[in-house]
Order: sequence, then structure tokens, then C-alpha cells
Amino acid sequence: MCGIVGYVGDNKSLEVLLGGLKRLEYRGYDSAGVAIIDPEGHIGTRKRSGKLQMLVDDLETTPLANGATGIGHTRWATHGGPTDRNAHPQLGDNGKLALIHNGIIENFYELKEGLLAKGETFTSDTDSEVAAILVGHAYQETGDLTEALRLVVAKLHGAFTLLVMHEDQPGVVVGARRNSPLVIGLGDGENFLGSDVAAFVEFTRRAVAIGQDQIVTLRTDSVVVTDFDGNPVETEEFDIQWDASAAEKGGWSSFMAKEISEEPEAVAKTLLGRLVDHKVRLPELDSLGEGTLENIDRIVIVACGTAAYAGMLGKYAIEKWSRIPVDVELAHEFRYRDPILTERTLVVSISQSGETMDTLLAVRHALEQGAKTLSICNTQGATIPRDSHAVLYTHAGPEVAVASTKAFVAQITALYLLGLRIGEARGTLSAEQIAENAAELLAIPEKIDEVLVASQSIGQLAHWMTDTQSVLFLGRNVGFPVALEGALKLKELAYIHAEGFAAGELKHGPIALIEPGQVVFVIVPSPRDPNSLHPKVVSNIQEIRARGARVIAIAEKGDAAVLPFADEVIPIPLAGSLFEPLLAVVPLHIFGMELAAAKGLDVDQPRNLAKSVTVE
Ligand code: F6R
Repeated sequence: MCGIVGYVGDNKSLEVLLGGLKRLEYRGYDSAGVAIIDPEGHIGTRKRSGKLQMLVDDLETTPLANGATGIGHTRWATHGGPTDRNAHPQLGDNGKLALIHNGIIENFYELKEGLLAKGETFTSDTDSEVAAILVGHAYQETGDLTEALRLVVAKLHGAFTLLVMHEDQPGVVVGARRNSPLVIGLGDGENFLGSDVAAFVEFTRRAVAIGQDQIVTLRTDSVVVTDFDGNPVETEEFDIQWDASAAEKGGWSSFMAKEISEEPEAVAKTLLGRLVDHKVRLPELDSLGEGTLENIDRIVIVACGTAAYAGMLGKYAIEKWSRIPVDVELAHEFRYRDPILTERTLVVSISQSGETMDTLLAVRHALEQGAKTLSICNTQGATIPRDSHAVLYTHAGPEVAVASTKAFVAQITALYLLGLRIGEARGTLSAEQIAENAAELLAIPEKIDEVLVASQSIGQLAHWMTDTQSVLFLGRNVGFPVALEGALKLKELAYIHAEGFAAGELKHGPIALIEPGQVVFVIVPSPRDPNSLHPKVVSNIQEIRARGARVIAIAEKGDAAVLPFADEVIPIPLAGSLFEPLLAVVPLHIFGMELAAAKGLDVDQPRNLAKSVTVE
């Protein structure tokens, strides 16, 4: 939700800001804007509704004076529609101060009423302008931008990252954060601020995460972090492991096409160094405390959207391997129903961004209740891993397309590693079983490569289906979360009505939806497993075919039983039952992307969405 960049350094602010905004555009793309203090000490501002390119085009036609200090913003509208005047930066102190904001100021209405009563006028409908005007007033009182921001954040309720700069203090950008992300990039004679490291990875690999309720004062030669009361705060530097090219499209038609092609690598990198001599090595879990894995009596997985589907798959694996009960909950539901947690509960959060507000609040609630918390996250230095007792990073690399693909397979991989590790710790898995499952995991990247090759015909299938109004997805057992993921991708990318069902549920209602021509994807389990639900799913296929459905089956290579009943079969390589989802989901990711592309839609930035959902 909104991307933020700040810079102090050379007279190249515009390049830094636009480069950073380009990389952060996945966070919101309703409108974009920059403010720069020019060499004469005046603030110049430019902002446009629409995608970042609108702003770039505008700046090309009518250039803005470059300078050494600047802030930039890409917006996902909350208060006030996506118009030029509601875009950020917002101005205060008679245009001498510029402010950008990510988050929601919950008490903005009362604050605005107070300002209106004092005769203040507003030029936008945003909550952010209230903050800009308040910081302007506070600056008039204190003559110091850091102090002014400190006074104002004490009055704000809600979630926010704020960056401000003032004409009277060129060479300074001040930032504050509460429940919204902000990271510092350390350069040589220049320093950066960003919603995440993607904002400045082109210029530096050295970063510092800013904690909750902290303020940073950024100059070319210094970075000072204090808490909201003004006390100095110790910070920790970390190296950014992504390089700038990882966040570039690199010749692919979209970030999503690139990211799907990286699914094998996402799994391989998440496994790297963690399966050694048939043993699971996750030293990251040590910070949960000695004996935790042995003593927990329950696991609760909290996540949203695609990450929650990964969590559902984690449940199957962890319960099977460790015999500990696992509940999977949507983070936004969990938090508000007063869940029962004890010090023997392990709450595992899953989040690609590490910033999803719903998930973050679920983790904080778990911490308050005394539970142990483990974060599975793809973004270094993000808030959720920082707030958790331990973190297991997925190493999928930066995911820029708004809809998650490669992070999903990396999350499943991390959950499976966790399941094996708990099984190992509790002795519910033998060394042979661990070795067997480790071998299955290690073989996955190559098998996904095979799926990618075999899925090339899906583009054609998608082209035939551009007029399709509704698509259903059926799966059973571990195929069920895959069906949900396939449906979600189709909704968000191709704007088509799509539903995922547990195949066994079909006869309890959804079969009424089947009419001639209805397209149904079916995730078919392997016929080789003696306990397989294969015969039942094949019967489901026959039931829907008998009612005229058009069946596209994702089935194991050589599954002859499916062939007579499916209109199309997308083959996947042989794998153990638990591991099939890592293969079966790949054609569904491709299908969602191809159908969106065939409909001429923006695959990377679907309407109304933002990648990092930092509001509740
Ligand atoms: C769907 C998608 C979302 C995210 C969800 C959680 O394609 O990307 O459903 O999975 O918003 O985001 P993170 O993982 O960043 O917490």
C-alpha cells in the first residue's frame, strides 16, 4: 500500500526517486508524485493520477529542477480518490514543506475539524494533508523538522510511514514509522529511505531496518534514529541479498512471466543448505528457545490470500510428519475472535512481504498471549519477522508482480522443511523417512522445470477462453488448496468469476453450477498411492462431464484413467502425494497469467490491488 522513497545526496534526486518508485510501483499504482528541493532551496512538486508512467511522461514534457534532497510516492488510494490533487506529496507551511504518507491516519477527521476551525484550508481529500499541515505548524513552533514530526506523530492514531522535508532545512529528510514499513539505505555521501530495499538496491546493498515508533533523520553524512520520545536507538545494519537485476524484467513480457519461470529456483534457493546429509538444518529456529519444537502442543498458521493456501498445505505436511494438530486461519479472522493460545502454541505466520497488516496484528496478538511466533517471510528486515521470535526466510528473490507466484512455492517449501524438522525433533519421523522426503523436495526444482516446458500449450488454451465468464477448480486433500490458488489467480489477474472447491463438496451444492460448457479444472491425485483419492476424483470428473462440463485435468504423466473423460490433460511429473501441489500449481499460475494477457490486461498490476497490504 503506497511506496515511499526518500533521498539526500547529489543533485540526482529525480533519477533516484523515479528508479525507486518504478521498483515500488507494485505497492500501489493509482497515482505518483515527487518533491525535490532545488539548488536554490525551493521545493518543486509534481504529481499525477494514474500509473507512474504518467508522471514520467509529464516530467519529460515539463522538466522539474533536480536537486540533492527529494521524496517520492506511489499511491494506493485510501482517503480520497486517485486524482492529481489527492496524489502525494502533500504540502504544508505555505508550500515550504512536503510530506508523503503510507498508511491510514484513523483520527484524521477530528484533526481536520480542528484545523478547519482555525481557518486552515485544504486542497485534497486525504488524511495525509492533515499531517502535512500539522507538521508545518509544529515546524513554526520548533524550527526543527525532526522535533516537529515528533510532536505530530504523538497526535496521530493508526498506521503510518511519513517522510517530510522543508525548504528551510535542505539536505534533510525526516521519516517516522508506526505499523507501516520504512528501511534506510546507507550510501557513500548519500543516504536513502524506502518502503522496502527495492527502493534503493540499485545504489547500495547496505540497509538498516527502522523499528516500530521510531524517527529517522537523514542527511548526506549521517543517519540518526530515535524513538518517538527522542531517545537514541541502536540500529543494526544488514546486507541486501538481492541484486538490482533480480528486480528487473530481464527481457520477459511481464514480471509475472519472469517470476513463474523462477519457481524452480525459488524452491531450490529455499532448500539451499537446509537439507544436509539427509538431515534438516534450520538453525534459525533456535531463537524460539531450547526445547520449543519438542514441547509445543499445537501449531496455528496465520496468513492471508495465497500465503494462507500455502499454510493449508503446510497443515497436511506438518500434521502427517509431526503428529501435532495444526490450525490454519486467515489472519484477519484469527485476531478478532479471541483465540485460545498458550506458551505451548507455536504461531507460524506466512507473508511474502512481511508487512501485511492483518498478519502482523495476528502475530502481535499471539505474542501478547504468550505464544511462540515463527515468521515465514520473503523480505529481509520486514516488520513481521522483526516482531517474531524466529524467522525462516524463503529465498524466492524479489517478487514484483502484484499476484504472488514464486513466493507461494517457496512458502510451501519452507513449511515442508519446518514439518520435517519438527518430525525430526519429536522423533515422529525416522532418519529414512526424513531422507525420503528430503529427496522428494530436492527433486522438485527439476520437476517444475519439466512442468514449465509441458505447459507451453496453456497460452493457446487461454486464447480460446477469453470470453469465458466463469471457471471452477476442483481438488481434494492437498489438491484443494491448489484449486483455491488457481481460482484466486484467475479472479485477480483475468477478472473472471472463479471458485475453488474441495471435490468431495461438489455433491453438497456446487454441482448445481455445472451446465453445458462450464469450464472446470480438476487437480487429479496420483493413482500410484494406495491411499490415493484418485478413483473418487475420477468419479467426480465423470459426474461433471455427464452434465456437460468442459474438463481440464492436471494429472500425473501416464494417468490413463483420466484420459477418456478430460477435454484437456496437462501432465505433471511423478512425485509423492504431498509434493504434487508444488507441480500442479504451476500450470494454474501460467493459465491465470496467459488469460489476463490474452484479454489485454495488465498482468503485473491488476486493478484495485496492491502487493503489500499495510492497512487492515
Ligand atoms: C494473491 C496474493 C495475495 C497475497 C496476500 C498476502 O496472488 O498475492 O493474496 O498472498 O495479500 O500477502 P503477503 O504474503 O505479503 O502477506
